[in-house]
Formats: sequence, structure tokens, C-alpha cells
Amino acid sequence: MSIEQLAETALAMVAPGKGIIAIDESNATIKKRFDGVGIECTEENRRAYRELLLATPKLSDYISGAILFDETIRQSTRDGVPFAKLMADNGMIPGIKVDKGTHALAGFPGEVVTEGLDGLRARLEEYYKLGARFAKWRAVINIGDDIPSGTCIDANAHALARYAALCQEQGLVPMVEPEVIMDGNHDIDTCYEVTEVTLRSLFASLYEQNVMLEGTILKASMVLPGTTSGDDASVEEVAAATLQCLKSTVPATLPGIVFLSGGQSDEAATAHLDAMNRMGPNPWPLSFSYGRAMQSAALKLWSQDIARNVAQAQATVYERARANGLAALGEWNK
Ligand code: 13P
Repeated sequence: MSIEQLAETALAMVAPGKGIIAIDESNATIKKRFDGVGIECTEENRRAYRELLLATPKLSDYISGAILFDETIRQSTRDGVPFAKLMADNGMIPGIKVDKGTHALAGFPGEVVTEGLDGLRARLEEYYKLGARFAKWRAVINIGDDIPSGTCIDANAHALARYAALCQEQGLVPMVEPEVIMDGNHDIDTCYEVTEVTLRSLFASLYEQNVMLEGTILKASMVLPGTTSGDDASVEEVAAATLQCLKSTVPATLPGIVFLSGGQSDEAATAHLDAMNRMGPNPWPLSFSYGRAMQSAALKLWSQDIARNVAQAQATVYERARANGLAALGEWNK
């Protein structure tokens, strides 16, 4: 796989005014979301829900690609069209979550490391054949008393870099996601420091593992005060802190950065992205790869009548895509 092809895919993922919809919840996570709105977590309900999202009319106006879960990339529409084909036919790039989730980091209470490197080369080869052109791996960095440790940050950065190198070898653009978790009573400065150290470690590891930044996308968390800190940060404050942190850690050769929503409200996720783009020009396109902030309104509506509410739910997906697509240009108006 040539670097040109990887770079072309990466640039298409962050095309102007477009972003990614993350629908790669593991079966355990989607069960939590379904339980929250009273939907039974059967394979057919998961399939029907993912079809609703991916078949949203004109979704590609604002969506360049979607991250799928292993089960989802093997599923099809009710009419038998594989989801990866449906996406490609509609001009959207299929992506796949390839990590195997977080596990306790031995010797470091309260900290986790993401697993999934064993056998990854063969899995990537199969996902490519199934149509995936990018892959995602999420590392989780928790903030608390005396954590994160340098060991946890470096272990996760190492795994991200090993995964990224394997992705590029197999022709997939790695979307590297080191998520600094919002939960906690820390202030925004602490989040800034932890995010800065995490990104420094990540880019050092990517360099050590010969990962080509031109064919890599960063999925970043925003710099925010902890959810139980009682602190309020303005939209401008969050946007300025996040931008400053990224500018001091992320090389300009990276084709783009997309954000996760991480539990922010739909509106906050959009407003923060919009503000960062209004503060530009920035070294890279800044766009979105939201899960909850793209889906929560649709899931709620759909759950009220899963047979009849498909079109209304799709309308909210389109509206969220439109708002975030405009925010990726700094042109969102409330
Ligand atoms: P949220 O936007 O809901 O945080 O999910 C994005 C994601 O893919 C997390 O890995």
C-alpha cells in the first residue's frame, strides 16, 4: 500500500465540512445505550438501528465515513446490501474499530491499557477485504488522585503506535484515539497537562514505530474541566485550551484531527468544534468523529416506536451531521 493511497483516504476523511459518525459501540456498550431507552439488545435490533443510521438520506452531505463494530461490518440492510457496500455506494468510507477494549493495567490500580494486538495483522487483512479503509483504536486515560501514571500513558501510546504501524502495512488509515476521560473533579488545567503529556508520548511512539503521519488521523478529546469539578468553562475557553494543547504537541504534517464527544451535550460538542474553527486558520482540518453527540437524539426517537419512527430518527441524524459539518468549517449558527 502506498503512502499516497493512505494519505488520500486520510484527507477524504476530513474533507471540508465533513466528519465521521462513530457507530462502533461494542455489544456491551450498545446494550447500555439500548437499556437506557428500553430497547432489547438483540442482533436484529442492533442491525436495524445501524441500518437506520447508515441509510439516513443524504448523510454523505456532511459525513465522510463511519466507524463500524466487528458485528456491523458483517451485517447488511434488510434488503441484503452489505453495510460496507451501502456506504461505499453512497460515497462514505467504511471504518472499523479493531481494539479489544480496556483491561486493568497490572500494578497500577485505577488505570487501564487497551488490548488487541495479538492476531491484529490477520484481522486487518480481513477487514480490508470486507471494505474497511480506516481503523480505530481507543486508549483510555483516567484522571484521578495520582493518576495517570507515566507508565500507563506510555503503555497505551506504545500499543497505539504498534496498531497504527500494522494498519498502514495492511492499507488502512489508523485513527489513533487517546481519550482523556472527562469524569473526575479535576480542573481544566489538569486536563490540559494530562492531554499534553499523552499526546507527546503518542507522537514519540508513532515516530519510534515508523508510522507515517501523512496517513494517520488523530481522534482527540477536548480540554475540559472534570464533570464533577463544579467548574464551568466557556466555549471560548475550552476551544482556546484545546487548540493550544494540540498546536504544542501535534505535528503539522498530520492530515487532520477529529474529536470524540465523550459525554458532552450535543450542543456543547458542536459549539466547541465551531469555536476552534472560528479561531483558525489552524495547522490541520479539525472535524468530528462523534458517537453519542451524533446519535442520542435519534436513538431516543427511534425507541419510542422502532417500526414507525425511522424517518424522524434519520432526520435528527441528518440535522446533527449538518450542524457538525458546519462547525467543521466554523460556520455553525445556533
Ligand atoms: P463519543 O463521541 O460518544 O465519545 O464516542 C466516540 C468514540 O468513538 C469513542 O471511542
